[in-house]
Amino acid sequence: MLGRNRFSETQPTVEILKILINETQIGLGIDRLAAQLKEHYKDQPLTIVSIMTGSLVMLADLIRLLEMPVRISLIQATSYRGGTKSGDLIIHDHMMLDIKDRDVLLIDDIFDTGKTLVQVTKRLNDMGPKSIKTAVFLNKQGQSTVTAVPDFVVFEIPNEFVVGYGLDYEDLYRNMPYVGVLEESDLKNHVAT
Ligand code: IMP
Ligand code: MG
Repeated sequence: MLGRNRFSETQPTVEILKILINETQIGLGIDRLAAQLKEHYKDQPLTIVSIMTGSLVMLADLIRLLEMPVRISLIQATSYRGGTKSGDLIIHDHMMLDIKDRDVLLIDDIFDTGKTLVQVTKRLNDMGPKSIKTAVFLNKQGQSTVTAVPDFVVFEIPNEFVVGYGLDYEDLYRNMPYVGVLEESDLKNHVAT
């Protein structure tokens, strides 16, 4: 696999991760999502709000498959886990476009407890959009602490810590082209930068 070899040559911090979703599967998954969005929005203009940094890779792949007029807006959400209280979320919206009376699709890398998506949706709702739907690349099974569910999910995954395709551990591994499970044994190879 070209992608995998390329990665391990340039980033020797991870020897081999257990691959959960490979590049081909990811491509097919993003194709499926694009088809669902075309079906839902038809030719209507769409504003995609992408939660940084995790949804960056999905954003780049997805928008190139969409044919309706698309505006892209970035928002950053940082949760402090293991630090203060879990679930404390800081939202930076200085790169937001005006979304008043717009159809908005909020995208994130993973729906874990669901707190990030719920809190960012609430913030966007205050900006007066015409509609808001949510799409996540991964939905982690059995972890949600909220009643809301994402409108579109590319892949359901078990309760494991995953990295790659935008998802990080300590800000690394986002550029891996596949989704891998970061297991305890992988952490001995993890070199903090
Ligand atoms: P939530 O608010 O608990 O749904 O968490 C969402 C955020 O937690 C995501 O945007 C990720 O940054 C992070 N996260 C949760 N699970 C994972 C994982 O398995 N790998 C990497 N990041 C994760
Ligand atoms: Mg993260």
